Amino acid sequence: MLTRTFTDRTITPPPRRSRARRALVFGTAGLLASAGVTALAGTAAAASTLGAAAAEKGRYFGTAVAANHLGEAAYASTLNTEFNSVTPENEMKWDAVEPSRNSFSYGSADQIVSHAQSRGMKVRGHTLVWHSQLPGWVGGLGASDLRTAMNNHITQVMTHYKGKIHSWDVVNEAFQDGSSGARRSSPFQDKLGNGFIEEAFRTARTADPAAKLCYNDYNTDGVNAKSNAVYNLVKDFKARGVPIDCVGFQSHFNSASPVPGDYRANLQRFADLGVDVQITELDIEGSGTAQANSYTNVVNACLGVSRCTGITVWGVTDKYSWRASGTPLLFDGNYAKKAAYTAVLTALGGSGGGGGGGGDAACTVTYSRTNDWSDRFNGQVTVTAGSAAITGWTTTVTVTSPQKISTNWNGTPSWDSSGNVMTMKPNGNGSLAAGASTSFGFTVMKNGNSSAPAIGSCSAS
Ligand code: G3I
Repeated sequence: MLTRTFTDRTITPPPRRSRARRALVFGTAGLLASAGVTALAGTAAAASTLGAAAAEKGRYFGTAVAANHLGEAAYASTLNTEFNSVTPENEMKWDAVEPSRNSFSYGSADQIVSHAQSRGMKVRGHTLVWHSQLPGWVGGLGASDLRTAMNNHITQVMTHYKGKIHSWDVVNEAFQDGSSGARRSSPFQDKLGNGFIEEAFRTARTADPAAKLCYNDYNTDGVNAKSNAVYNLVKDFKARGVPIDCVGFQSHFNSASPVPGDYRANLQRFADLGVDVQITELDIEGSGTAQANSYTNVVNACLGVSRCTGITVWGVTDKYSWRASGTPLLFDGNYAKKAAYTAVLTALGGSGGGGGGGGDAACTVTYSRTNDWSDRFNGQVTVTAGSAAITGWTTTVTVTSPQKISTNWNGTPSWDSSGNVMTMKPNGNGSLAAGASTSFGFTVMKNGNSSAPAIGSCSAS
């Protein structure tokens, strides 16, 4: 599945002021951005909300919003206090806005847009052309009619919201999962062929020239066959002058699909094509420190890519999440801030309570694939102390089953019950002078899966 022989993970450090624990992860490619992050953290008063902290980093921090919850006081106040961008979770989808042909209903979507606008929040548009939540009449059209209907839908909806949407998901989820890199079957793909994406983007540019036009998908968060297919699409569009401004990475994570080790590198390679990248539907199933660390990794990856313009989490509270049982969001069902919330705010340079002076023990990790064979690869994690000396460090390496870590060196490992998570500590004396580095390594048996491991945050003592 993974074709590259080298992957690199770069996550910028959360400028912690207080806790000695937990830390910073970043690599060479992120040094420039990281330097900026560090400088800012030392001088600015820390922001105390997600939106304000992200804004200080030149980014937005948004959430998916459902119109039918806006009347709930705690929902609205959490939204209004913490976020500065919203994405209608379902209200702008085709079945909501054009349930029957040429009959448009914008009520719920308008409610969200006006709520946002009156509070100075930005709005992401989601989504114009998608195989799902498509009313039945669309699938029944012949090719010529479908083309007309698609272009009409894009034009009508974008015109209605002209000037109010910062970025539109013009086409959503057009590629298959797995190793084929092929297009997903849909009425658009099946009847209009590969050219439907290009046509949609061209129509969108004409309808609202000021809106950023995004392609949005899931399981494209690391380097893999599906993200390679999207990459090739974007590269081709840029080469031929087809309008496209951004790529959305949905970033729905859980233990079966953790934050990939090459997440930042993947964002960066898209940015290098000349498009913005956005994290559009972030949620991470789990709880406690593990969930918090994964959120930290995602935020730091975005901060490490200068063209990563914002992050949207896929809901305000766990209780209304599309996968509520996985408690994947930043606020629990009672709107209490979770550890994941504090981790995100801290990574953004904000202060979620705790205060404290600088100079605490901290470390960063970078990952690289140092060897690659057909059946296995070697990974190396380099641990670097922050601006203060440290006496010990801990990080984790998580592989995706059926992968197995068969060997490791230069560290002292312990394992979770699944055998997929290796927690690594120093081999003997873990002291590192400020800025000094050490590395440990491991071999991953692919067992058919070549994806990069997820590397946890670095905790220093
Ligand atoms: O509103 C009706 C309600 O009246 C009815 O009683 C109930 C019974 O099923 O359904 C309600 O609608 C549901 C709707 O969410 C609102 O809760 C739909 O059945 C349900 O299918 C819909 O799910 C949405 C899903 O997209 C549909 O594919 C989720 O809320 C939404 O979070 C999810 O979002 C997608 C993104 O758009 C694209 N990327 C993946 C992401 C997660 O699946």
